[in-house]
Amino acid sequence: MPAWLSDAVFYEIYPQSFNDTNGDGIGDIEGIIEKLDYVKELGCNAIWLNPIYDSPFKDAGYDVRDYKKVAERYGTNDDLVRLFDEAHKKDIKILLDLVPGHTSEEHEWFKKSCEADRNEFSDRYIWTDSAFCGIGGHPYIGGEAEREGCYMLNFFKCQPALNYGVLNKTEKWQLTPDHPSCIETREALKDIMRFWLDKGCDGFRVDMADSLVKEDDDDKSATGAIWTDIRKMMDRDYPDAALISEWCNPQCALKYGFHADFYLDHHGNGYNVLVRDCETEGGDHSYFKKDGGDDPERFLSDYLPRYEGSRKYGYISFITCNHDTPRVTKALDISEIKLAYAFFFTMPGVPFLYYGDEIGMKYLENVRTKEGGYQRTGSRSPMQWDKDQKNFGFSDAEADKLYIPMDSAADAPSVTEAKNDPDSIYYTVKSLIDLRHTYEDLQADASFKKVYSKKGERILVYRRGDLLLAVNPGASEVHVKTGDFEGNIMDVIAGDMIYGIGTTELTSGELVLGAQSFAVFK
Ligand code: NOJ
Repeated sequence: MPAWLSDAVFYEIYPQSFNDTNGDGIGDIEGIIEKLDYVKELGCNAIWLNPIYDSPFKDAGYDVRDYKKVAERYGTNDDLVRLFDEAHKKDIKILLDLVPGHTSEEHEWFKKSCEADRNEFSDRYIWTDSAFCGIGGHPYIGGEAEREGCYMLNFFKCQPALNYGVLNKTEKWQLTPDHPSCIETREALKDIMRFWLDKGCDGFRVDMADSLVKEDDDDKSATGAIWTDIRKMMDRDYPDAALISEWCNPQCALKYGFHADFYLDHHGNGYNVLVRDCETEGGDHSYFKKDGGDDPERFLSDYLPRYEGSRKYGYISFITCNHDTPRVTKALDISEIKLAYAFFFTMPGVPFLYYGDEIGMKYLENVRTKEGGYQRTGSRSPMQWDKDQKNFGFSDAEADKLYIPMDSAADAPSVTEAKNDPDSIYYTVKSLIDLRHTYEDLQADASFKKVYSKKGERILVYRRGDLLLAVNPGASEVHVKTGDFEGNIMDVIAGDMIYGIGTTELTSGELVLGAQSFAVFK
């Protein structure tokens, strides 16, 4: 386990929308280098960069055309290496996005794989032996290649699935994971990883990490075996590099070799019911909703088994949001968000802050889809640096050339305004991250233990290591007898003075949590 992960706080950068230094309306690597101090000042010590590889951008870069080349619109490979170097000088780690499950249909491997004559890449993708067959409801595409056969997709139509084999071979054209061609796919992936690790990247966020072996790999043991093999390479040759999965099943992902796994927004899961439960009938019952929010039990019943079942292997990553998820501002107001962040940044594991969430950027409704974003596009709009500058300081391009239009609302937040307002969400985030760096008991490894939560009650009291934390997201004051807690409660080390919301008081034998309050005691 790379030691730096235990105090890591990540900042996710969607490069298209962060900072444009060449005036083409799209962010670039130079723009990220320019803002490293900003990331550092916030307290983040690691960055996850969404794909920056050469791509036709039909899925925002998750359709990779060349894994070893930076897309021209972002700069050059040398620029990326410079970003690694500059970040390292500031003690910031950089994780790239690794897309192992599919390439773009424009990747050289796929072009070769489409050829009628057999070649080195014929089996790099999953092809049937007839252009007229479809298989078991899977999205196979035919009629596009000279080669006889249909190919399997992994996501969009432009993303043919790479061939790591099928577990349960029922057709003669299928290959099993131990077939030399499938092993070659795995080795090609390792080669890409080595290419960037040797240039100084600090690891990878792995896209659709569970999607490698097809057909009946239900317990994911065959896909997992590939990751275990890759982890061996990392432990041996790159022991300080991190591997973080988009899987949302930490019991599986961490056991097979990932250091951390994202807790993603899946309808009804523990993360979703905290802040994004808005699709449930009868209104938004998200735990952090001041009115109408639920008790913490729904969260705990989903989270605790994940946590207990995975903690000995690695970490769960809470996210404020990501490039696939509606920003929390869609459903929560600023005081609700501040409390939710207080929770996320004091939980075990490795937290991720999505760019712009530190200033409460909005989810933009009704923006036209961009690069396969569809409803995700509303969470990918350009960073708002300074309201008084053209395009909020994101780019010098004319408005119609911007990657996605800027938020045009009169109350669109910006970094400069947030920094001038001591009550802003920016300072909440900054203080929380600072608090986390100060107390080891708030970092990745310290244990989590539920202390008090009851069906129908809004309050949650829990321990992180020796610290006691309490949160009341509801609209009314709550009193709890401290006799219900084990251990001693001494000083309030964080409370209303940081968050500017509800007050917290500890009187003889009673914990009083004001409406919308959060406190840490030691
Ligand atoms: C998950 C990524 O986060 C998403 O943005 C992408 O479209 C799909 N995987 C396909 O790669």
